[in-house]
Amino acid sequence: MKVGVDTTGNSGKFLFDTALVGNSNAGHSFESAPRGKGVIGRLLTDEERWAIIEYLKSIPTEVGQVTPFGGPKNPIKAWEDKTFFHVKTKTGYDGRYEPAEPKQKQGAGKPPTPALGQEMVAAGEAEFIEAIVKQTLDRLKAQYPAGKGPVLRDAHPKTHGLVQAEFIVLDDVPKNLQHGIFAKARKFDALIRFSAGGTAVQSDTIPQGQGMAIQVLGIEGQNLLEGAKTQDFVMINFPTFFVRNLKDYEDFHLALASGKGKILEFFKAHPAEAEASYQLSNQPFHNPLQVRYWSQTPYKLGPHAIKFSARPITNRTNAKPEKTDPDYLREVMVKQIGSEDVYFEFLVQVQTDPVKMPVEDSLVEWKEADFPFQRVALIRIPKQDISAPANLKTAEKMSFSPWHALPEHRPLGSINRARRVIYQTVFEFRRKMNEVPRRESSESPK
Ligand code: HEM
Repeated sequence: MKVGVDTTGNSGKFLFDTALVGNSNAGHSFESAPRGKGVIGRLLTDEERWAIIEYLKSIPTEVGQVTPFGGPKNPIKAWEDKTFFHVKTKTGYDGRYEPAEPKQKQGAGKPPTPALGQEMVAAGEAEFIEAIVKQTLDRLKAQYPAGKGPVLRDAHPKTHGLVQAEFIVLDDVPKNLQHGIFAKARKFDALIRFSAGGTAVQSDTIPQGQGMAIQVLGIEGQNLLEGAKTQDFVMINFPTFFVRNLKDYEDFHLALASGKGKILEFFKAHPAEAEASYQLSNQPFHNPLQVRYWSQTPYKLGPHAIKFSARPITNRTNAKPEKTDPDYLREVMVKQIGSEDVYFEFLVQVQTDPVKMPVEDSLVEWKEADFPFQRVALIRIPKQDISAPANLKTAEKMSFSPWHALPEHRPLGSINRARRVIYQTVFEFRRKMNEVPRRESSESPK
């Protein structure tokens, strides 16, 4: 391993002239001598000097970089590696993520633990939401200049397929979970859109988060979004989101608007977000019907706060096909659903610990090993032909939103609060630009 000054003189480097004041190589010194005249500390042992070099080598300079070199695969979890300098030498730093709690003022008592399901609205939240909506619309207008093709979703623009399904509430739902659409055993019609994340349509060979949005149809009762007659469950193929809260998201969003360099800067300053973003985009994903999806953010279920998840019931293994062309995920999906029924189980995880299962920090996974999920419904996707291009066109006319919901399933937390207006605004914009007639969101698309 080489460390020290780069003397290659390659293009992009500059001459460091040590004759200039302040550039000399006299440096500062650690000596057994009085302080001053460049001496700033005691003599370091040989071991301490090597430790400094090891420390320098352990600092990541790029997102996703493997450090220490030749060390763990995952730099963000370097402290879990017994060879990691800080672990070996017990410096007291273990880089572990502490769940965000309101900063304590000196002398103040411990901040109060939130109650189960309790939301906390940070100062300035409305302004953050307004700014995100504006930035999103500005980006869409730039991305899709008027008249140049249909405006796609700002997020998850690529549809793998839209399927008709049955959402079957089971007759053995535990009593304490019998709320909202899970109040009694019943079969609902549903539509499910499988999508790829990102802000632009990309080849399926590029790693990215993947979505499963369920729209349960024919929902009676007062909906949280006026006019909606559906209960939607919007999920991604990873248990946590990649930012903690709306402030975090706003910082990311600003970076997104300023280009790649700023995004890297954001992730350098936010290693836990970098790790979650990497994981979220890099899960093995070769068939949308053979992987598990999670809500990532919490929701109400009657008096409880929950997260939900859809897990495939199958012995198929999400194996990578031999041929992976840019739209291969649609192809494998069309093929599978064209030849067999597909099943998922729909699960909920009840919040029982407000600290280990926070409502306002969507980077913290509610650990399944400690807090298990329970099955409340089955999803049956009967064998069907979704190969026609009309299948994709129909999906474009639709809107899925966490806020298409009964009050018993109200979305919780700042990320979800923002999604209420953002999804609606983006859908309205798409609808207007694409000249799609207004329609009730529960209407089954033809
Ligand atoms: C502040 C955070 C978020 C923002 C600003 C955001 C924004 C958006 C927007 C604008 C759309 C397109 C809406 C439309 O045109 O109909 C969308 C779709 C989607 N989002 Fe988010 N989102 C956020 C968080 C999340 C989270 C936490 C999840 C995790 C489940 C998620 C999953 C999805 C999925 C799966 C879709 C596609 C839905 C469909 O099939 O229509 N989003 N998001």
